[in-house]
Amino acid sequence: MQCNNKKLKKLKKKISYHAYRYYTLDNPIISDIEYDLLIQKLQKLEKKSKNFQKNDSITKKIGLKMLNFFKIKKHFTPMLSLQNIYNVEEIEVFKKKIQKKIKKKVFSLSCELKIDGLAISLLYKKGILIRSLTRGNGIKGEDVTLNSFNIKNIPKFLNSKYQIPEIIEIRGEIYMLSSDFKKLNQKKNISCNTIFSNSRNAAAGSLRQNDPKITKERKLMFFCHGYGICKMKNIPNNHYDMIKKIKSWGIPVNKNIFLTNKINEIQKYYFYFQKKRDLLNFEIDGIVVKINDLNDQKKIGNTTKYPKWAIAIKFSPYEKQTKILNVDFQVGRTGIITPVARLKPIKISGVIIKNASLHNRYEIKRLKILIGSTVLIRRAGDVIPYVVKVVNTIDKNFLKTKKIIFPQNCPSCNTKIIEENNMKISRCNNYFNCIEQLKKKLEHFVSRNAFNIIGLGPNIIHKLFSNKIVLIPSDFFKLTAQNLKNIEGIKEKKANNIIQSLNIAKKISLEKFIYSLGIHGVGISVSKYLSKNYINIQNFINANLKDLLKINKIGKNIANNIISFLKNKDSMLIILKLIKHVKFEKKNLFILKNKKNFFLNKKIVITGKLIKFTRNEINEILKKNGFIIQNIVSKNTDFLLCGKYTHKSKKLIKSKKLKVKILNENEFLILIKNII
Ligand code: IVH
Repeated sequence: MQCNNKKLKKLKKKISYHAYRYYTLDNPIISDIEYDLLIQKLQKLEKKSKNFQKNDSITKKIGLKMLNFFKIKKHFTPMLSLQNIYNVEEIEVFKKKIQKKIKKKVFSLSCELKIDGLAISLLYKKGILIRSLTRGNGIKGEDVTLNSFNIKNIPKFLNSKYQIPEIIEIRGEIYMLSSDFKKLNQKKNISCNTIFSNSRNAAAGSLRQNDPKITKERKLMFFCHGYGICKMKNIPNNHYDMIKKIKSWGIPVNKNIFLTNKINEIQKYYFYFQKKRDLLNFEIDGIVVKINDLNDQKKIGNTTKYPKWAIAIKFSPYEKQTKILNVDFQVGRTGIITPVARLKPIKISGVIIKNASLHNRYEIKRLKILIGSTVLIRRAGDVIPYVVKVVNTIDKNFLKTKKIIFPQNCPSCNTKIIEENNMKISRCNNYFNCIEQLKKKLEHFVSRNAFNIIGLGPNIIHKLFSNKIVLIPSDFFKLTAQNLKNIEGIKEKKANNIIQSLNIAKKISLEKFIYSLGIHGVGISVSKYLSKNYINIQNFINANLKDLLKINKIGKNIANNIISFLKNKDSMLIILKLIKHVKFEKKNLFILKNKKNFFLNKKIVITGKLIKFTRNEINEILKKNGFIIQNIVSKNTDFLLCGKYTHKSKKLIKSKKLKVKILNENEFLILIKNII
């Protein structure tokens, strides 16, 4: 018994600590599942314990300590939490319990998204928002009225076009749009070196602010999912209609509310949103299923902590704890050295995670990461798993932790690493001889947005490179099926497929070609701008800094990178060798697609040498866009397209005299691109 009591005390202390971190500090370090498991363990131990006081148990409390700069006020109706299940199959058990209780076989259930935010209760008296309370301990909450006035989509007045209640507590969730959360963290990281680990904490931390101005800046949002006290005639008899009514008063509700009486439809709804959750611009951590009929809800009743007529079916969390076993340093395509944590494997939303990016030297310092640290790992959407924070290093294993030693020299070629941007970038600048960089450049070259060669994964590329068969991109096009078949694991069919893919890839757009070169800072969109401006590869090769800087979206750094790439003998050789194998796709000839043809019958004369277009190309562009090409400038000429070497051009002199609009090639391009 003594032993049981000791365990109980220890567990209670642990739960109190985690509840304090979650509810008071908005900074939890364990996932909801882990917290629920602790609660379940405590419930079991409490049942066994003799001198345990039922109503005093922490398992019966909702929320915990509140922040003392807010006034604490009582809710009219308690704000309850939800019982959770983690397996959608268990909804059967829930349904059976309800059937027994209300003695009905068929009944309607409301399925909703479980918004991962912070619960709030908005009190409207005669349609005016007079008070906003956080959930607090469920009975009393923190008064955050002033802050809630700064949440754009919370109306201060209900739309009284329809009958409104005398008094109503609107219950719902404060949350932050994922896009705003990302922006906030970027800003926070720069200004104060700390970030919020997820959007729920960001929303909670932004609402529970002493200064309402901060809440305003943080752009919070609100969704209503229920109500507390409500004094009104003709209250609908079901949850779904009540939510619709609330919506008609101008209160935001989430549109994905769905009524059903079928278990398999609930399961479908669950799986659908589990798959789609990354595409929503707000975080959800599960779905909520509620009995729709309000009389049935009453009949079923509540516990002190949660309603028995509703249940949350949670998704597996995006975040989990594990240990850092070791740290390796990877050299990227552009020479950037990235520390990668080797983890004790954990499963996050169905995927086993063994590695996580530590981003850079600065992040290691900021997060105080050590080898052996217990860390919180997050994997959401297609983002590479990363370390959110170190979890409580004051554990038994702390003494076994080891400092991470960031290398001084490149782990691949031993060149001295250069530090840039306040330790946020560590770079090996041995671009043409560092083997790791060369291999990564080849991987980039065959990637989907570049030459898109199917079947050539990193493994094969590394083997081709080590065997000196492919050292630079153009070598790919010299490959034979026999070369490939000599590589372990490649059989006839795969070899032929790769060769076929290489043949198809030879025809490429300028945009993809530029992207494939892997110039620092020249990603997909910059490549697009470059190809639109330079039109053909010769123009691009001859690019100069002055012209580059005129291009929209190309700043000084990128322009300098491009020029130093083009001025380098080695990279120029790579381009020239490559050009021999490829055929450029026909250029985008800027043909107007809309019916109202702006240039129809506009008369144009060309003079001088055009750099961006051949004469055939320009003739095609002009004709297809409706221009009439003239040879002589007259008073009814609309434009003169003026190339280079025109100092003796009679057409230019005459155009000036007749005040014909004169366009150089760039101006002409801008004009037609704007019209198109
Ligand atoms: S109903 C009395 N519906 O999840 C029933 N809650 O983990 C109370 N939540 O305290 C809640 N989305 O703050 C309900 N569609 C939804 C919800 C939702 C998010 C929150 C709510 C609740 C917490 C429980």
